[in-house]
Amino acid sequence: MTDVTTDDSPVFDPFAAGFAEDPYPHYAELRERAPVHRHPLGFWVISRYEDVFALMRSGLSVEDRNAAEGPLQQLYEDAGVADTRRVDGRSMLDLDPPDHTRLRKLVSRAFSPRTIAALEPEVTALVDDALATIAEAGRVDLVEALAFPLPFTVISRMLGMPPTDHERLRELTGTLVRAVEPVNDPALLRAIAAADNEVAGMIEEVLRWKRRNPADDLLSALISAEEDGDVLGDDELVAQVALLYVAGHETTVNLIAGGTLALLRNQDQLDRLRADPGLADNAVDELLRYDSPVQSSRRVTLAPCSIGGQEIEPGMFVLANLASANRDPDFWGPDAERLRLDRRGARQHVSFGGGPHHCLGAALARLEGRVAIGRLVRRFPNLALDGDVVWNGRLNLRGPERLPVRT
Ligand code: HEM
Repeated sequence: MTDVTTDDSPVFDPFAAGFAEDPYPHYAELRERAPVHRHPLGFWVISRYEDVFALMRSGLSVEDRNAAEGPLQQLYEDAGVADTRRVDGRSMLDLDPPDHTRLRKLVSRAFSPRTIAALEPEVTALVDDALATIAEAGRVDLVEALAFPLPFTVISRMLGMPPTDHERLRELTGTLVRAVEPVNDPALLRAIAAADNEVAGMIEEVLRWKRRNPADDLLSALISAEEDGDVLGDDELVAQVALLYVAGHETTVNLIAGGTLALLRNQDQLDRLRADPGLADNAVDELLRYDSPVQSSRRVTLAPCSIGGQEIEPGMFVLANLASANRDPDFWGPDAERLRLDRRGARQHVSFGGGPHHCLGAALARLEGRVAIGRLVRRFPNLALDGDVVWNGRLNLRGPERLPVRT
């Protein structure tokens, strides 16, 4: 295969004008002309389904992505933030076996399909409460009215979060999640590192409270594992709690808001979903494919390896463009760019990554997405956009920040 980066190849430029609103034409060009692309900042970007799928399952490292070599890492060092992080780099998402295996095992029971299925009545009640408020208001920002509060409340209840300054935590986690995207601005790098430390401090406070007030919840279960000593240390506990709290809401908000937006822009598909509630499960996977709530994941090469016919040296950061893979016509066929709720095999999307780090919250996200979007569109047959969508400006956890609708 020779179609790798050449001098006249397009550059992966997530900072380009218009990218945040619609990165898909850019991805199409990358797939076509530079599917295995070396960015001037020194990291690699892969954009085809076949390569992304293989990379996710490759068992390549996720550790030390900030220690990988190249100008991007130099930026971290220059900004003086490389060693100050307490959450980013220390959760299971950023660890290889055996630490990854041990940490994932500790929390995976709480996310088993059976445990998650049992949450459906509670999720339905939360959605119906939100819909009642929306009905009364008539015109709302759907992010504030439903897409954010639902996953936020569900993960807070699962963890058993005590009273804390949720507004401040929300603000901080909004900055912290930028750690999972390419950042070329030293001021933002420093802001991320500061948010990381403040979040860690707030979670320590939360854990102190929970130690005095144990209950039947995930925080208490993790605290007992920590008291067991050999399974979970102090710093590990803080990083896992922060990951669950952040991953639990900063992603699903994009599924609910972005998914609803995709339906409102594809009225024929919206009508089909209203007419056939049996389509709901497949519809959620097609919405996840169509507009990936997490646009990319990453691995680090520890040894020389070959991706899509390109030799890549050790110590390289490789960004897997999940959102592009989800629209690759070589895998999905000529209608890859179209939303088709009855698409066969929609579940093969890579929005939840794959391999050992496959999203632990996938069943929960699917449940919340199906119940929220399904009940919303059936309750309001005249649901329509009511103004301009404002995007959150994030390159990875991309989604609407404001979605004005009327019922
Ligand atoms: C990991 C996507 C919701 C918890 C991941 C990964 C992706 C992802 C792409 C990395 C996979 C990889 O690198 O191979 C999503 C999307 C969601 C969502 C698109 C919503 C639509 C959730 C929820 C939770 C959650 C609700 C619940 C707390 C996690 C955890 C990991 C993870 C703990 C780390 C797993 C590991 O490293 O072993 N997710 N996620 N996610 N997700 Fe999600």
